[in-house]
Amino acid sequence: MGEKRNKFMALIFILVFMSFSSGWSQIAATISEDSESCLSCHSTFNSAIISDWEKSLHSKVMPVEALKKEILKRRVSAQKLPEEISSIVVGCAECHTMNPEKHKDSFEHNGFKVHTVVTPEDCGICHPEEKEEYGQNLMSYAYINLNDNPVYRDLINSINGIQTFDEGKIFFKTADDKTNSESCYYCHGTEVRVVGLNTRETPLGEMEFPVLAGWPNQGVGRMNPDGSMGSCSSCHTRHSFSIEMARKSYTCSECHKGPDVPAYKVYEVSKHGNIFSAMNEEWDFTSVPWIAGVNFTSPTCATCHSSLIADKNDEVIIERTHRMNDRLWWRIFGLVYAHPHPASANTSIIKNKSGLNLPTELSGEPVAEYLINEKEQSVRRENMQKVCLGCHSVQWVENQFLRLENTIQTTNEMTLTATKILVTAWDKGAASGLPHNSSIFDEAIEKKWVEQWLFYANSVRFASAMAGADYGVFANGRWYMSRNIQEMKDWLEFKLKGQSKKK
Ligand code: HEC
Ligand code: HEC
Ligand code: HEC
Ligand code: HEC
Ligand code: HEC
Ligand code: HEC
Ligand code: HEC
Ligand code: HEC
Repeated sequence: MGEKRNKFMALIFILVFMSFSSGWSQIAATISEDSESCLSCHSTFNSAIISDWEKSLHSKVMPVEALKKEILKRRVSAQKLPEEISSIVVGCAECHTMNPEKHKDSFEHNGFKVHTVVTPEDCGICHPEEKEEYGQNLMSYAYINLNDNPVYRDLINSINGIQTFDEGKIFFKTADDKTNSESCYYCHGTEVRVVGLNTRETPLGEMEFPVLAGWPNQGVGRMNPDGSMGSCSSCHTRHSFSIEMARKSYTCSECHKGPDVPAYKVYEVSKHGNIFSAMNEEWDFTSVPWIAGVNFTSPTCATCHSSLIADKNDEVIIERTHRMNDRLWWRIFGLVYAHPHPASANTSIIKNKSGLNLPTELSGEPVAEYLINEKEQSVRRENMQKVCLGCHSVQWVENQFLRLENTIQTTNEMTLTATKILVTAWDKGAASGLPHNSSIFDEAIEKKWVEQWLFYANSVRFASAMAGADYGVFANGRWYMSRNIQEMKDWLEFKLKGQSKKK
């Protein structure tokens, strides 16, 4: 009964729509018939989605025109596209019915096989280079890198797990999926799964939809129902999919702002961030290529990490990359110590000598076989340097990078000192950790140790790399690194005194 009514309503709707729709066919004669049909219904209840789409290049430019542009100005990296999708604009159907055979979330919807979750694989039909590069980025492995690593899973549970207090002891429950989805996996990405079908009442009668677990989510390493990884809309939000948004640093701030990953806060207080705040209304964020000194005068996150930058004469300063590690020679995000960048974007395969899935030993030594070598480090350092040299002199940049090298060394030393105090606490039984096969994240002194590298040493290194001094000194910086060591040592002494009194 529901289905019949549904079809009848759809028919009426389309007929009504067609009599009013001459507007559509005038402005956009090149919309596919399928997409016209989606628009006919969806314009009544998804008007915000539709107006975003109307403002985007997808509603205006057909791939066949985009492919004609000269190479530097091209926004579509496919070399050739099948005729049936190249002479129409990119409408609802072109994205939401792409690759139906791969999509476990594909469902029968008013005569179409539709999926809601549009993935890098779908975008990759027209943007294969971006898809390919993004897939070799740490970001696309962000879910796997947490979920497949026992050390980090323990960290998740020690933070998200419910604690109970019973007979003088604290116990941890394993963290639940919903909590993890709005905590770690909000940024790292969830696993999106189809867990059933649901028939519900809609403005146009009853319809059946797949029930998605782990959704909504736009995390960078999201596991998609078509087997692909990541979400392009983490930086290009639907349905404007704009380059301007991705180039502005606010977009990255969503995930790169906390005490463990303070890139945005550092940027905000840097000279670069100041110039951006003061002057960005005069800049052009849509031009391709992006011309240093003309379209913008100071870098955003995108400039240094991703953008294609050219000079006034259209000479390329550096090519675009969605594989952000192309310009990163260190991993300044300590795990536990800063170390050369991992060779594979899948970090869960790394194992150190104590059997932990970490890229450094507790002594600070890098687990070299999984990390890039010095030669590759210098290639990547030069890539980043090319960006800087678009605006700065050689000495300005080289001296700044020398400070960063020094900071990596000094912060690693401070992490080592904290680690020695922790290991002493384990050895003397003041805390139970590695030697006792027990969690290394759940006791007071262990949490202080985590703060030493995850908050303070990271903050100092980010401040050094991206030149925002405050976060290297008093705001979670060197002051806290030194205070924390003192507190760890005092804690250990009190605890040991207490133990000897008991004896
Ligand atoms: C006969 C009208 C009609 C047509 C034609 C139609 N849709 Fe829908 N669609 C709906 C309604 C009604 C809903 C439910 C809205 C709600 O209440 O959530 C819906 C829901 C959806 C959803 C969300 C599903 C979810 O998981 O909640 C997507 C995505 C979608 N449609 C895409 C499309 C695409 C793409 C097309 C064209 C290929 C299309 N629709 C054609 C009426 C239509
Ligand atoms: C981490 C953020 C981020 C993610 C995720 C991301 N992009 Fe981008 N994208 C950017 C930035 C930044 C730019 C601007 C680059 C520039 O200035 O040259 C950009 C630019 C683009 C452009 C414009 C290219 C041009 O030639 O003008 C396309 C197309 C694009 N991205 C597609 C994708 C696709 C497809 C995905 C998913 C596979 C994706 N992006 C994921 C940040 C991102
Ligand atoms: C360039 C590809 C693309 C086009 C074109 C496109 N979509 Fe989407 N759509 C997406 C992506 C990506 C998402 C986010 C899904 C996710 O990753 O979770 C999305 C999500 C949606 C959703 C669910 C979002 C929500 O907030 O509930 C609906 C409904 C939808 N699209 C309808 C449409 C309609 C209607 C059109 C045509 C006007 C359209 N889409 C055009 C890629 C596209
Ligand atoms: C069927 C081909 C096709 C698909 C699929 C497609 N795009 Fe595009 N994309 C285009 C075309 C065409 C343009 C406009 C190119 C131009 O103006 O030169 C474009 C432009 C862009 C831009 C640049 C926008 C700007 O403001 O400069 C981004 C970013 C982008 N697409 C991202 C995506 C993402 C993300 C997806 C998947 C959710 C996607 N595209 C799916 C064809 C496609
Ligand atoms: C607000 C966004 C956000 C949330 C929430 C978040 N992270 Fe992250 N995480 C990041 C970013 C950004 C990085 C990359 C930092 C870098 O490379 O400098 C990262 C990287 C990591 C890494 C390194 C993984 C590797 O091997 O490459 C670990 C481990 C990690 N996070 C653990 C967690 C845990 C555990 C939680 C939840 C308790 C969590 N994160 C929640 C943004 C987030
Ligand atoms: C939705 C959350 C999210 C957004 C938005 C986001 N990132 Fe990330 N980013 C992450 C996470 C999570 C990681 C860590 C992945 C891991 O270590 O496994 C990461 C890692 C990185 C890395 C380290 C990559 C490496 O190879 O070491 C860089 C650089 C980066 N992001 C830059 C950016 C820039 C620039 C933007 C904005 C254009 C951005 N991110 C937007 C979540 C995000
Ligand atoms: C002036 C150029 C510049 C700007 C602007 C910039 N960065 Fe960086 N970024 C760097 C340099 C240099 C490094 C250190 C290089 C390395 O880790 O090998 C770095 C490191 C990082 C890392 C750490 C990757 C790792 O090794 O763990 C992340 C994440 C990051 N930046 C994100 C951002 C975000 C987000 C923004 C904007 C809020 C931003 N950056 C702005 C130059 C810049
Ligand atoms: C688009 C141009 C541009 C790019 C690219 C750029 N910068 Fe800058 N940078 C500036 C401008 C402009 C200033 C402000 C100079 C002033 O204070 O008068 C600045 C300031 C700085 C400062 C602050 C110095 C101080 O003591 O106040 C440092 C450090 C710096 N840049 C390093 C770098 C590094 C390293 C890179 C590359 C990773 C880089 N910049 C990329 C334009 C740029």
